[in-house]
Amino acid sequence: MFRRARPPQVPITDARTPEEAARDYMPAAERRWLNPLRLLRHRWDGIHRLRSRTAELAGIEPGQRVLDVGCGAGELCLQILTQHPDAKVTGLDPDADALRRAARRAGRWMLRRRLGRSGNPAPVRSLPLQLVVGFADRLPCEPASFDHVVSSFAVHHLPAEQQQRFAREALRVLSPGGRITLADMAGHGHSGEHHHDSDRPAKQHGDGGLVQLLTEAGFLHAAVIEEASHRVGRIVYVQASAPGPGEQRLAGA
Ligand SMILES: C[S@@+](CC[C@H](N)C(=O)[O-])C[C@H]1O[C@@H](n2cnc3c(N)ncnc32)[C@H](O)[C@@H]1O
Repeated sequence: MFRRARPPQVPITDARTPEEAARDYMPAAERRWLNPLRLLRHRWDGIHRLRSRTAELAGIEPGQRVLDVGCGAGELCLQILTQHPDAKVTGLDPDADALRRAARRAGRWMLRRRLGRSGNPAPVRSLPLQLVVGFADRLPCEPASFDHVVSSFAVHHLPAEQQQRFAREALRVLSPGGRITLADMAGHGHSGEHHHDSDRPAKQHGDGGLVQLLTEAGFLHAAVIEEASHRVGRIVYVQASAPGPGEQRLAGA
């Protein structure tokens, strides 16, 4: 007899302080009713591919604890779980609606994987994914509680001083020797803005901006590891590591 399998639930925790709950931020998109069209456009545009490349470049190892900051509707979280099914992923974003979409999408994703080709509703285990409502510049996480911090197309949503706090927070929550991988807009600094779904202008990082941001926060070996040209602008993938045991922290933190 065919039983209808129910998607597993993905927990969403609201970790904002009362002040943060009233705080403004730049969302992914202002007119949410356009989201289904945006999804189609992102597939068409290849933005999807930029996220999966982020997951590939991150080089996550089996069983690692990964924090995706500014995860939005969870595309990068799911890319990471597709490529590394035994990673333990936490997605963080101030946008609770986007996290609810991420939770629904993750439930369906898990169900498809469990059903496999047979269509047989095998028992669904819980997903190695948690979602947290919170802000990049005050990560509600214990020190050294992650092996990898990732973020795709979110850092340019933060004003400069929040970017600096985010970089220091990322370093704090990483275990010694842990890594950070960022994908974001680059630019030559002429317009300082790029095409965006939000009504508010977002900043591009000038050349070297993310590398400098991470280095000043105390990360080691910060470098652009790949660049890509895209209709929305030039994309940089930047990676750095937290000092390991015996390595010296350069500055900041
Ligand atoms: C362009 S979307 C990218 C979402 C997702 N990472 C992706 O690749 O599709 C930018 C995300 O940054 C989030 N964001 C804005 N301000 C933030 C902040 N202060 N802390 C964390 N995330 C923030 C927005 O809510 C939005 O989900």
